[in-house]
Amino acid sequence: MSQTYGLTPEEIQELSKRAAAAKDVSYSPYSNFRVGCALLCEDGSWVIGANIENASYPVTICAERTALVKAITEGKKRFRAIGLSVDVSPPASPCGMCRQFIREFSDGSVPIFMYGKEVGECVVRTLGELLPMSFGPDDLPDRGARSQILSGSLLVNDNIAGLCHTCVLEGLG
Ligand code: THU
Repeated sequence: MSQTYGLTPEEIQELSKRAAAAKDVSYSPYSNFRVGCALLCEDGSWVIGANIENASYPVTICAERTALVKAITEGKKRFRAIGLSVDVSPPASPCGMCRQFIREFSDGSVPIFMYGKEVGECVVRTLGELLPMSFGPDDLPDRGARSQILSGSLLVNDNIAGLCHTCVLEGLG
């Protein structure tokens, strides 16, 4: 992998392992489409989540939002990497709603590692690549109040569009 996004090889390996393992707790009896998510938090800790479906289909919660909600309620609001694992090939990418949800707590530089069913299959994109010119907390008029609400968890001057760069598409090897 030419770009490691500031992660160590051990962290990258752990990210893929934890995202894959998170699929085991997926509750997806309607779609049978298991999704696992692992977050590497800024403090070095890990949080996992999986998709949780509902008989009333739209009530379903995606794996990414399950993981993020768990993390936020544990006081972890900044992330170094997000891993997503599915049982299909090529790997799926976060839905639009999840991209926006991630944006609330991450700037455009956070890498999202998407793992498919083949061994070592991985596509990596930054949030800025998946959600260019995004709308975030700092776009609201009262930035000061927003920053306070988020306890300084966001960089006010993040330039999401400026963070976009050449995409990386390769196996973990
Ligand atoms: N799903 C996720 O967990 N994350 C996404 O980003 C896309 C979709 C889940 C929702 C549903 O349980 C299943 O995948 C099929 O849509």
